[in-house]
Amino acid sequence: MLSKDILYVAAALFFAALLVRRRALRPPRPPGPAAYPLIGNLFDWPWEAGWLTFHQWAQKWGDIMYIEIFGLHIVILNSVELAQSLMSQAIYSDRPPLTMVGKLMGFTPSIVLSPYGEHWKAMRRLTQQSLNRASSLQFLPSQLYDARVLLQQLLDNPDKAIPNIRFALGKNIIENTYGIKVDSPNSEFVKLSRETHEVIQNAVIPGSFFVDIFPSLRFVPSWFPGAGFKRLANIARGRGKHMVDGAFDAAKQSLTGSDPLASLVGSLLSENPSEMSREEYEYIVKWAAGSLYGAGTESTVSGISTFLLMMTLHPDIQKKVQEEIDRVVGGGRLPTFEDRSALVFLDAVIKESLRFHPPTPLGIAHRLSEDDVVAGYHLPKGAIVLANIWGISMNEKYYPNPTQFDPARFLGDAQQLDPATHVFGFGRRACLGVHYSTAAIYITVVSILSVFDIRGEDNKGNPVKEAEFTGGFVSHPKPFKCRMVPRSPAASELAKSGTLLL
Ligand code: HEM
Repeated sequence: MLSKDILYVAAALFFAALLVRRRALRPPRPPGPAAYPLIGNLFDWPWEAGWLTFHQWAQKWGDIMYIEIFGLHIVILNSVELAQSLMSQAIYSDRPPLTMVGKLMGFTPSIVLSPYGEHWKAMRRLTQQSLNRASSLQFLPSQLYDARVLLQQLLDNPDKAIPNIRFALGKNIIENTYGIKVDSPNSEFVKLSRETHEVIQNAVIPGSFFVDIFPSLRFVPSWFPGAGFKRLANIARGRGKHMVDGAFDAAKQSLTGSDPLASLVGSLLSENPSEMSREEYEYIVKWAAGSLYGAGTESTVSGISTFLLMMTLHPDIQKKVQEEIDRVVGGGRLPTFEDRSALVFLDAVIKESLRFHPPTPLGIAHRLSEDDVVAGYHLPKGAIVLANIWGISMNEKYYPNPTQFDPARFLGDAQQLDPATHVFGFGRRACLGVHYSTAAIYITVVSILSVFDIRGEDNKGNPVKEAEFTGGFVSHPKPFKCRMVPRSPAASELAKSGTLLL
């Protein structure tokens, strides 16, 4: 009996020694804050605006950092070079299976959250062919038209700039994607997009809900104390279903009419792929369309809102942009896309706004599907990989005096790093809407600045003094009053008739 016990102990010691040896031979994990046993870095995890904390850590730990929460591995990248070289690889192109937003809220089949597999590839292929640089030119006429409609709405509602911009963008994406006519800010699908975004906003950031760390918590009933996340998930699920299924069904319905509007869904449904069943194909088209509508509006609204906020904080820069517009466009007409290449200073201001506060400061998490060794560090299979896009924008290595708003970074011969290198993400999962959204930002801000002076006020009517931003997956300027004051009676007249000649 005794000899048997000795044998067991010897075997256990042997395997423990093997494990220790294997760990000792394995390269170390990247540096990061010290972790407690079991809970790891639970108390270090920033629940709000994590990019600020990660940026501070990067000053100490460098370009690649590692933390762990209850065995969930998280790698944070703080340089463009590392983010581009790692995230362009297939093994970094998966998404983590986020229980809250994916399973409970039901958004796993979207392009944004789909695992790196056949379903994602099919959706990406279908949408990329309409949104690549050349194809996205097809949207310019409608983007111009909607920017002109926006000017008229701003004349009528000079204090409601942000809600009207949100409407203009939501309208354009919905009409182009589904061919459904949207004529009022109270339109069902514009409202749904905003409301769904509000409830999923935090869930897209890994670790924002305990259920992402302990997936079995999803079985807790909704009535259980502390199960508020289940009730939130149910609300999001209902809104998401209404938004994705409802808009798709409405688009199909409109195709049966006599003169349907041209749309992405309409043209995709007119095809008959031979490699899958009709049902499978429609499922792919439905989720591909729902993803554009879900991912596109709020990020672009954030980009435009930050631009407007910067104009209120820097009236001298606002004036310089207007002088350039007046010089290039002249006073007798409104700007168009043909003016874009000549508006060099405006282009620099747009780039600087996107750099100063990127709309999605932490991007969207990637997942590592195999063990890897990077810069001598071991990155475990399954790790969540985040790029601190905001941190890259605030890195002195790329942008001297990064907290200063300075469009001159992007003028002349010695320009600093173009923010497009990181603001739209990385590799195979990089943003699909980059060409569409940069066109939308340009035409919206150039149209506004040609007609209006932008004045910013806080809740007490005082001029806005500093830039403050919300947390969340898409981060917006904190609410500020953005008042549109017509630059002249002639400018107002131009805005009133702006849609007539289109
Ligand atoms: C200023 C506006 C925008 C910004 C800053 C932005 C930024 C981003 C970022 C950082 C990602 C994650 C990339 C990664 O995982 O590495 C992303 C993904 C995505 N974006 Fe955008 N985006 C914008 C506008 C749009 C628009 C207008 C659309 C659609 C029309 C769109 C559709 C998507 C989709 C579908 C994905 C998921 C791609 C995938 O996982 O394969 N985005 N975007």
